[in-house]
Amino acid sequence: MCGIVGYVGAQSAQDVVVAGLKRLEYRGYDSAGVAVLADGGLAAARKAGKLLNLEKELKDRPLPAGNTGIGHTRWATHGGPTDANAHPHLDNAGRVAVVHNGIIENFAALRGELAGRGHDLTSETDTEVVAHLLAEAYSSGGDLAEAMRQVCRQLEGAFTLVAVVADEPDAVVGARRNSPLVVGVGDGEMFLASDVAAFIAHTRDAIELGQDQVVELRRDGATVTGFDGRPADVREYHVDWDASAAEKGGYASFMLKEIADQPKAVADTLLGRVDGSGTLHLDEVRIAPGVLREVDKVVVVACGTAFHAGMIAKYAIEHWTRLPCETELASEFRYRDPILDQRTLVVAISQSGETMDTLMAVRHAREQGAKVLAICNTNGSTIPRESDAVLYTHAGPEVAVASTKAFLTQLVACYLVALYLGQVRGTKWGDEIRTVVRQLSEMSGAVERVLGTMEPVRELARSLAGHDTVLFVGRHVGYPVALEGALKLKELAYMHAEGFAAGELKHGPIALIEEGLPVVVVVPSPRGRSVLHGKIVSNIQEIRARGARTVVIAEEGDDEVVPYADHLIRIPATPTLLQPLVATVPLQVFACELATARGNEVDQPRNLAKSVTVE
Ligand code: F6R
Repeated sequence: MCGIVGYVGAQSAQDVVVAGLKRLEYRGYDSAGVAVLADGGLAAARKAGKLLNLEKELKDRPLPAGNTGIGHTRWATHGGPTDANAHPHLDNAGRVAVVHNGIIENFAALRGELAGRGHDLTSETDTEVVAHLLAEAYSSGGDLAEAMRQVCRQLEGAFTLVAVVADEPDAVVGARRNSPLVVGVGDGEMFLASDVAAFIAHTRDAIELGQDQVVELRRDGATVTGFDGRPADVREYHVDWDASAAEKGGYASFMLKEIADQPKAVADTLLGRVDGSGTLHLDEVRIAPGVLREVDKVVVVACGTAFHAGMIAKYAIEHWTRLPCETELASEFRYRDPILDQRTLVVAISQSGETMDTLMAVRHAREQGAKVLAICNTNGSTIPRESDAVLYTHAGPEVAVASTKAFLTQLVACYLVALYLGQVRGTKWGDEIRTVVRQLSEMSGAVERVLGTMEPVRELARSLAGHDTVLFVGRHVGYPVALEGALKLKELAYMHAEGFAAGELKHGPIALIEEGLPVVVVVPSPRGRSVLHGKIVSNIQEIRARGARTVVIAEEGDDEVVPYADHLIRIPATPTLLQPLVATVPLQVFACELATARGNEVDQPRNLAKSVTVE
């Protein structure tokens, strides 16, 4: 949720840290701060609001020059987004500074104890206790890493911490439990961050920290231990995407760039996994075919947009494998005591790989003996590390808070999993599976074609900017697409938007329809499932008869819908189950344009964060 950066080296720590924070602002943007070690002391600046406010503050009142520093961009949990609650937090002597991501669950008790020992805590945050505990532990031992280990052993909850102390001007210490923390290994300089994006401009060599580990950075290296002080094994890796992938590349927003990146993201996610003969190559899924053949149920868990991908996975898995499949919101999953055993395959979908609700669902599933396959976009993140196997999506870094290209690649990964299960287990749909595998390779081009026809969608979006409500309806896989269209509009345009299964309209929601209300209808292909098509054509007529303004998304050549469409958005003809790959794109463009027309900043919608590392 929050973004953290640490630096020790020869450059200006303030510059490196602030530039890193800019890359992490997607993780939270309601306050920011930086602390630098200089002239034998510690100087800090903190500001509520976006990073821009902190940059202005640093321009007006520059910190003294120093080569070691830490910084933070916050998404508030404990305590509102004020200057006083912004990180870094300092001890009373102003010698220790700490930044934190996560929630310290026992902070109230620790705070009481600290107050009893004469500490004066001034913020409403859980983080401030750590600065005071660290100062106490450091003053008794004079070793910052050991002090951090001692403090971590007292903390409950999920946390990533990074700290500096004025007495050790060449050291930065970090600790990780649950929330992400990565070390960047430079030449005579070292970095610490929640995400490699923060230091990719300086180095692509990274070390992934594991659960319950403490790292001490000096200019020439990193020492990693467990919370118990024993040396820890770590994984070194090379980041293979470049800095420009995390830049806007000439687009007005990351979201626009990421929408435009989708044909490549789809193609990259298929690369090397399908061949021209219609066979899938997913050896990377390290669950033995024998185990997959024994699976008798699939459960998909995910949140938000990833959940919508999971809903579509259910249609694909049940159709191509004939295995029962449930899709469940990760935040609900473990609380309803789900029935899981060794023959259950749980598929956990997460762009960030850090979503706490999904992580907890993964842990619960494994505790019950289920096998967990993660679908994830972030190499080395927690969810794939804690799963039995992972299928990475290759969307590249997704910076805009609203998910677009990650969603399309999650769909591709879900199809791959469904088809692979069908291939491994053998079903009566063998020929269809081979055909669809080949058709998947054409989807990147289909998405590209949709992107080339979006001007009328943008015009329509601008014309609807003054409306209060938009409804979305669909059937079959068009239903999750409708939900995704509504979610995009809610989070970006701050409008009332609802998605419904079209068949449900007459069971209640049709009462919402009034003169001029925009209703977006996702129409299934008339080929293959003509019954479904006929039913939705009737739904469009019902909606229109009540005065709604219909926006119809329909396949090229589908003429039956034309008389009932106030606005017609054409998408290429695709196999029924693959249609979400093309039908979602106009809805992303629609939401982005409508939000922009309402004056909203699309990359960082209010109240949201990219990576939700609290439950
Ligand atoms: C919406 C959006 C969120 C995420 C959700 C899960 O545009 O981005 O709904 O899909 O928070 O995030 P991940 O996929 O990182 O687990």
